[in-house]
This record gives sequence, structure tokens and C-alpha cells, in this order.
Amino acid sequence: MPDVTLTTLQALKRKGEKITMLTCYDATFAKTLCEAGVELLLIGDSLGMVLQGHDSTLPVTVADMAYHTANVKRGNRGAMIVADLPFMANATVEQTLNNSATLMQAGAHMIKLEGAGWLAESIRLLAERGIPVCAHMGLTPQAVNLLGGYKVQGREEAQAARMLEDAQALEAAGAAMLLLECVPSDLATRITQAVSVPVIGIGAGPGTDGQVLVMHDMLGLSLSGRVAKFVRNFMVDSPSIPAAFSAYVSAVKAVQFPAPEHEFSA
Ligand code: KIV
Repeated sequence: MPDVTLTTLQALKRKGEKITMLTCYDATFAKTLCEAGVELLLIGDSLGMVLQGHDSTLPVTVADMAYHTANVKRGNRGAMIVADLPFMANATVEQTLNNSATLMQAGAHMIKLEGAGWLAESIRLLAERGIPVCAHMGLTPQAVNLLGGYKVQGREEAQAARMLEDAQALEAAGAAMLLLECVPSDLATRITQAVSVPVIGIGAGPGTDGQVLVMHDMLGLSLSGRVAKFVRNFMVDSPSIPAAFSAYVSAVKAVQFPAPEHEFSA
């Protein structure tokens, strides 16, 4: 068992202490992030972009995710490990169960699925079988072609109301955590207050229960040269990579990150 469990995350939410999460894809960074006090390590399918050099996350396979999850597990020193089900790995219920089992056996403690209300059945089946699920809502990069780009989601009232309803339905289905990406801050805060499970944000303002960033982004590393509005480069004021991770943890815990310039309005 890791030191950080669902019970830890729920207690942090109740206390109002912010939860820290960063992406991680290998053993050495897993150990370094744990030493900095990061509570959740996310093997994100963003590895398709930052490690593999693709222009989206769509080419990432379950085998890629299992490989990196196993590497992170070997370096982990007590954090909770969350692994993404990549594009189309949850196309059917049977695939969802089998692929989630593969990632749990590789070392994940929780599975993250991208989607919305339609995830309810998969989440219920996984939870019944003892697999905690994080539902990734808002901007879901695996659907970038349908969304017409990496755009803020939930700006229109009807879409915002649907997102709030979906969040409550996914909690009722058994989701253990929600993740909101590129959502106006007011909506993210409303959703966080409307559910009892922890809500992690990226580009969702300071009102969520915790924050996540892609590790390469917060270290100021970029293949494309484009930097999203919600990213802060923690290397600017840090003498080393471990110091940048510690600065991230301190800034999230002190609610100094995200700052107003990292937020989206409705
Ligand atoms: O794949 C990933 O790294 C993610 C984060 C952007 C939340 O899903």
C-alpha cells in the first residue's frame, strides 16, 4: 500500500488542504517527486507528446502506459499512482475492465478515464471490482478532434450545467476522484463544492481540491514552444529540478498557484 491512499485524499479535502499531483513517467522522477512531497503521481497519456514527440495523445497504447506505470512503481516512495487509460482503451466495457486490470497489475493504484456522464457504467463496474477511478472531464485531449482543438470547456451555461450534473452522476456511479481540465474557475469551484470526492484541476483555477501539471511544462521544457496559459515554469526561481518540485508543492499548498493569470473566466 502507498502512504497516500483515498482516505488521505478525502481527509485533505475535508481539511481544505490542497492536494498535489504531477505527471511522472519513470523511476528516478518518481523518487524525486516523492521526496518533494507530491502526493499523486500521474502516468498521463501526455507521455505521447512529451516523451514520444507525437502531436496528440492518440497514438499512445496500453502497452506504453503499462511500461511507464511499472517504471514509476519501482521509483515510487509512498505516493498514490494514477494511470491513464489511453485513447480507445475504454471503447467497450470489456476493454475497459481488461485494460484497467493491466495497468493495476503494472503498479497503478487508480485509473483515470477521459469522458463525461457516459463513463458512469464503466466507473460503476470498475469500482465494484475494487478499482478506484478518476474521471477526467472538461477538456479531454483524447477527443481533441471532436472538440476542434484544445479549448476551454463549460463556458456556455447549458454546457456548464451539464458538466455539473455529469460530475454528480459520476460520483454517484462510484468515481473516487474527478479531474477538471481547462474549465472556467467559477464552474470548477461549483463542481468541487457539489461533490464529496476530491477534485483536481489543471487550468481550472484555485478553487479545486488540488492541482496537477505536466512535469515537463512546469520545468519549462517544451517541444512545440507553445506554453498553455495555465502553466507556471517553476524552474525560473529554482536552482534545481528537485527545488522546482518543492516550490510547486509549496505554491499549491499555500494557494499561490494557480494565480489569476493562470485562470479562465466564463
Ligand atoms: O495526460 C496527462 O498528462 C493528463 C494531465 C494533463 C491531467 O491527463
